[in-house]
Amino acid sequence: MLKKKQPISDVFHETSLGQIVQGDSLEVLAAYPDDSVDLIMTSPPFGLVRKKDYGNVEADKYVEWFKAFAAHFHRILKANGSFVLDIGGAWNKGYPTRNIYHFKLLVMLCEEFGFYLAQDFYWWNPSKLPTPAEWVTVRRIRVKDAINTVWWLSKTPWPKASNRRVLQPYSPSMRELLVKGYRAKKRPSGHDISDKFNIDNGAAIPPNLIAIPNTESNSFYLRYCEKNNLKPHPARYPAELPEYFIRMLTEPGDLVVDPFAGSCVTGEVCERTGRHWVCVELLSEYCEAALGRFVREPEETAKSVRKSKDLSSYYRVPRPGILWHEDRGDPLSEDGGKERARKFGKKPPKNRRKHR
Ligand SMILES: C[S@@+](CC[C@H](N)C(=O)[O-])C[C@H]1O[C@@H](n2cnc3c(N)ncnc32)[C@H](O)[C@@H]1O
Repeated sequence: MLKKKQPISDVFHETSLGQIVQGDSLEVLAAYPDDSVDLIMTSPPFGLVRKKDYGNVEADKYVEWFKAFAAHFHRILKANGSFVLDIGGAWNKGYPTRNIYHFKLLVMLCEEFGFYLAQDFYWWNPSKLPTPAEWVTVRRIRVKDAINTVWWLSKTPWPKASNRRVLQPYSPSMRELLVKGYRAKKRPSGHDISDKFNIDNGAAIPPNLIAIPNTESNSFYLRYCEKNNLKPHPARYPAELPEYFIRMLTEPGDLVVDPFAGSCVTGEVCERTGRHWVCVELLSEYCEAALGRFVREPEETAKSVRKSKDLSSYYRVPRPGILWHEDRGDPLSEDGGKERARKFGKKPPKNRRKHR
C-alpha cells in the first residue's frame, strides 16, 4: 500500500530499554506473544487528502486498511493494557466539509474488535496554521482546524490508570476559591457541591482537552538531522502527548509499543521515563534520523525536556463573545461560499471592522 514499503524487518538500533525496528509493523507484531504489551501509543498515517511523503491511505479505504493492525493490537495487549491512538480529521476533497473516517474507525475498533473507549481526548495544538486556506482565510466560511482526536481504547473496561500522574496546577480562579472558601450548595444542574470541594489537594485533575503547541524548532533531533543531512520526519507529535499517556497508563519497566513510530518520539519518552519500548517504522530514512534521539549523552536528553512549571505555559482560551458587538457584523455568504471570485473580489462591506 505504501509505495516505499520494504519487506524486511530488522532491529535498527537498540538501547538497554528499547529497540527501533525497521519494517512493516504487521510483520513485526505477528511475532509478538498474546497479552504481552502494556500500552500501544501511536499516531498512524492519517486519511488525508494531501499526501505526506510517507504515503497515506485515503479516508474511504482507511477503516479497511486498519483492520489487520487492529487484530494484532487487540491480541498483543494485556487485559489491563491500553491502546492510545492520536488521529487527525480530514477535509473532503474540494468541499468545506469534514470526512468522518476517524469516527468510523473508532466505531469499527469497538464494535468489530471489542475495544472499549476508555475516554476520548482532544489535543488542541494552539500553533496550528489556519488551513485549509481556501475555506478558512480566503472564503472565511470555516474556522481553524486545530484539534486531533486521541482515542484511549482498552481491551477490558478496566485498564490500569491513575489520573494522579497527570495532575496540573490549579487555575488562578480555583486558587482564589480555595483561599476565599466555597459555600457548599446544590448547583442548578442538580450536582451537589459538598464542602470537600474546598480541600486543597495541591493540584487539579486535568480535563480531556490537552493543549500542546507543536512547535519544536531547536531540538537535539532537529540539529542531528541537520548535521547529518537527514530529512526530519514531517509529522512528529510533541513529546508531551505520548508522555501524558505513558505516565498515566504505565509503570516504569512496562512495555510500550509504537507501531507507526516515525521519528520515535514515543521511544525517546520511554527511554527517559524508564519504560521498555519498541518503535516500528517502515522507512529506513526515518529510522536513521530517529537515531538522533538516542545517540547522545544523558545530559543532552535531560536538557531537551521542557520544564514548564511557570504560569506562562498556561493557555488561556478566550470565551466566545469578547469581540461580539451589537451590530449585524459581516454579511453571511448566502451560497455558503460556493462562488469565490465574484463575492470575495468585491470591496469589503462598509461595516467591516479592522480587527478580525
Ligand atoms: C504520522 S507518522 C508517525 C509520527 C510519529 N508519531 C512522530 O512523532 O515522529 C506515521 C508513520 O508510520 C509509518 N508507517 C506507515 N505504515 C507503516 C507500517 N505498516 N509499519 C510501520 N510503520 C509504518 C510511516 O512511514 C510514518 O513514518
